[in-house]
This record gives sequence, C-alpha cells and structure tokens, in this order.
Amino acid sequence: MTTTDPSPTAARSGASATEAFRASRPQGTGTEVSAERVSAVVQAVLSGVHDAIRRTKVTYPEFQGAKQWLIEVGESGEWPLVLDVFIEHVVEEVAADSQHGTQGSILGPYYLPDQTRLPSVARLPMRSDEKGTALVFTGQVRNLDGQPLAGAELDIWHADDDGYYSGFAPHIPNGNLRGVVVCNEQGRFEISTIKPAPYQIPPDGPTGKLIDAAGWHPWRPAHLHLIVRAPGFRPITTQLYFEDGEWLADDVAQATKPEPVLHPQPTDDGRLHARYDFALEPLG
Ligand code: DHB
Ligand code: FE
Repeated sequence: MTTTDPSPTAARSGASATEAFRASRPQGTGTEVSAERVSAVVQAVLSGVHDAIRRTKVTYPEFQGAKQWLIEVGESGEWPLVLDVFIEHVVEEVAADSQHGTQGSILGPYYLPDQTRLPSVARLPMRSDEKGTALVFTGQVRNLDGQPLAGAELDIWHADDDGYYSGFAPHIPNGNLRGVVVCNEQGRFEISTIKPAPYQIPPDGPTGKLIDAAGWHPWRPAHLHLIVRAPGFRPITTQLYFEDGEWLADDVAQATKPEPVLHPQPTDDGRLHARYDFALEPLG
C-alpha cells in the first residue's frame, strides 16, 4: 500500500474487509471437513490451474510475477475483495440451485453485522449533508404462497453517492447507510435512503492493479445489499440493481441477474420510489 495515494479510503478497504471477515467467522471452522472432500475440491482446483498453465504456456517470469501478486494480496488484506469479485458469483450460482423464492446474489466483502435496528418505516442513518438522489424503497416480505411474513427483517447496506461503504472508508461515520429494518405485521417496509453510486474496485491495491494490467474495467453497477430474514424461513442474501444502471450488463463481479432489478419512478417531491417484494422459502 502506498502512502501517497490520492484516495486513502480505497487503500484501507481491503484491510478492513479482512478484519470484518475474521470477526464474522465462528471458532474452529475447517476441522469438520473430511479429508475426502478436501482432496476432491483441492485436486479439482489445482488441475484447473495446471490446465491453464499448459494451455497458455505460462513462463517462469510470469509464475514469479503471480507469486509476487499473491503475496501482495495477502499483505494488503485484499483476499476478501479478490475472492468476492472474481469467484463468489459461482459459489452463489451453485447455492442457488437448491433455493426457491427471491433470487440471491453475492454477499460481497462489506457486510457488517449488528447494525442499528429500525422500525418498518425508517430512514437509514446518514450524514446531515448526505449527497445523492433521495430514494424511497418499499415492499413486502412473503412466503412462497404469497402470505405476508410478520417479523421479517431486512438487513440493508449500500455504498454512498461516491461508491464508498461505511466501515471501510475512514471519512464515513460508522453505520452510515446501514440498518436492520423490522417489517410490520404485514411484512411491509418503507425505507428512506439515497441512491448509491456504482462501485469501483479500489484502483490502488493489488486487485485494482490486476484489473488494470489485464485491461478490464473495475466497476460494479449501483446496488443495494440485503439479507432478508424471517423466523422459520431460509434467509436470503441478495442485491438489488437499478434499471438502466451503468455497468448493469457488464459487472466486474458478474453478480447481476435479470430479476433483482429495481424500476424506480420519480415522485412529486423529487425523490425516487422503488418497490420490491421478497419471497422466502421455509427452512427445510
Ligand atoms: C466487491 C465489492 C462490493 O461492493 C460487492 O458488492 C461485491 C464485491 C469487491 O470489492 O470485491
Ligand atoms: Fe457491494
């Protein structure tokens, strides 16, 4: 990490994401996986890498360059960013095979648990001068038969109008644009917030440098992150995108889907209103 970088907020997000990930892990994970399973998965991963090396005829200098990059990813704490931007979408795709109801999407590296609990009609915590177009997001949480789910909650977090997340950028107050909204008896909610900007992979870290070296773009379309929960139902981790949003058809994280897309309408008072209803499946 450089100390002269013009956007120090970006340079910090990797390290904070590593910290948040470690804090979220239950103790002692890993030991419950059988040797058979470890062997099967790791062998498949390694043979994919071996095949790529043969196919593209990777040279020694390239191998050493890759080693250097991997070391830098670890040192900068950017493993959560690398894994969530390039790989998580396929893990989610596999998980989605056995899920019904609202489509899921990746969790990403910027979830923080235990945010402020808010009533069903709520404004997300924000700065008094929070920039961005005001957005009212309403909807209902139901079961697969369309019955409303009382006691459902929406754990919501999103980037600000500059594409930065609180907790990962030191200039933003903790808890900004995050909250756990408790729905009413009808499973309904009305959340006032601002429309987030598209998100850019921090350009100054190893993930950004790789994207640049490959000539790719570093953007994700604007999105709201959600974990929707209700007692007795399978929680759904998803993201909602915005119709016609920039990068919607070309997400660097390949995590967009056609269905979880908002169609915001302008309101008389100059805000945007978007509606989305969620369907949860019972725990199996
Ligand atoms: C990353 C960031 C996000 O906000 C997201 O939703 C997914 C991935 C990332 O930097 O890896
Ligand atoms: Fe995100």
